[in-house]
Amino acid sequence: MAGEVQRGLEDVVALESQICFIDGHGGRLIYRGYDIRELAEQSTFEEVAYLLWYGRLPTRAQLDELRTRLARLREIPAELTGILDRIPKECAPMDVLRTAVSALAHFEPAETRPGASSIGGAQRLTAVLPSILGYFHRRRKGLPPLAPRPELGHAQYLLYALRDREGSELEGRALDIALILHADHELNASTFAARVTASTLSDLYSAVTSAVGTLKGPLHGGANERVMELLNECGTVDRVDAIVRGKLARHERIMGFGHRVYKVEDPRATILRDWSYRAGEAHHDLHYFELLRELERVVHREKGLYPNVDLYSGSVYTLLGIPSDLFTPVFAASRVVGWTAHVLEEYQDLRLIRPTAQYIGPVDLRYAPVDQRA
Ligand code: SDX
Repeated sequence: MAGEVQRGLEDVVALESQICFIDGHGGRLIYRGYDIRELAEQSTFEEVAYLLWYGRLPTRAQLDELRTRLARLREIPAELTGILDRIPKECAPMDVLRTAVSALAHFEPAETRPGASSIGGAQRLTAVLPSILGYFHRRRKGLPPLAPRPELGHAQYLLYALRDREGSELEGRALDIALILHADHELNASTFAARVTASTLSDLYSAVTSAVGTLKGPLHGGANERVMELLNECGTVDRVDAIVRGKLARHERIMGFGHRVYKVEDPRATILRDWSYRAGEAHHDLHYFELLRELERVVHREKGLYPNVDLYSGSVYTLLGIPSDLFTPVFAASRVVGWTAHVLEEYQDLRLIRPTAQYIGPVDLRYAPVDQRA
């Protein structure tokens, strides 16, 4: 007998996992037992990637080895650049990323080919996504091709790939922390899509392709891009109140607010608010920060909603010189670690994911030959 329908699978516990815990009422986010606040303060994206994949923090030797391996896996095969060169420059970067991840599988060396050691594929995809984004972005901007730059850590390499210049230490650290904060988030829509794909015993590259396509949706990824559009529409702090009230009166969603799980402030928003201020101070431009603080005040007064991870991230990326249509690809460049960690976990304790639907359509209709139908 079918149970009660939970639209959007809201509050449905679909599986057991050891990767990520979200305390929606307490506003806490835990990766493999470690609080995100401590990880953001003391670790690096590479260290968090190791933690999510292997379930423990790396030793110094293990971390150095991972850094070296990721730097070595950044190169894009010539066959893939040939495909990227044929994609129109006007295409949306998330669509380009979806195509690139899918196509990459055809040209991978044996040790990372789909279905081989998935940790190898996970590290390969994590390493190469910044190169793919950088290649496409430089081509559409007429910039010179990427240099490998193995001496750069992951965040600094991503920044270099998207900006054609290295970041300052503060800029690199700001992006490193944003990557840490976006690395995993339990069964969010794109991670769930990856697990559904893996649960059929499909390969890692297919699972990540599913995830990229899912993250593209504006209710999941892309909200931070729309936050920046709203800030530019407001222009000044004194215009925020009327503009937001007008949108709410038209039942429009204010991007960057609300969350399916957090009933209080998203702890990632707390950290990104601080970094939005720090990046603004470093660039002598607190304009976005001040608009966002006013936006928070008005939305909380009108709807009692709290900020989510997308409210402040766009202002940090903008201050880092990252174009807004690359915000969600940056999200993907981080979340690929969570996606692949969940795929690995699914392979280890596999159960085909197949919920049911409550059928509400007609029954017992009689078939009529096509020429007898009105
Ligand atoms: C991410 O799942 C994850 O973990 C995702 C993520 C991750 O790390 O992977 O955290 C990343 O996706 C963050 C969310 C980014 N998206 C946005 O900021 C888009 C704007 N937010 C909303 O669309 C919404 O809050 C959702 C989609 C995030 C959550 O929506 P729910 O849980 O389905 O809530 P709901 O649509 O049932 O809304 C409940 C009420 C409604 O009011 P009523 O119609 O009952 O009067 O709250 C209102 C909604 O209208 N509401 C909003 C709102 N969010 C909820 N009203 C205005 N603006 C909003 N943003």
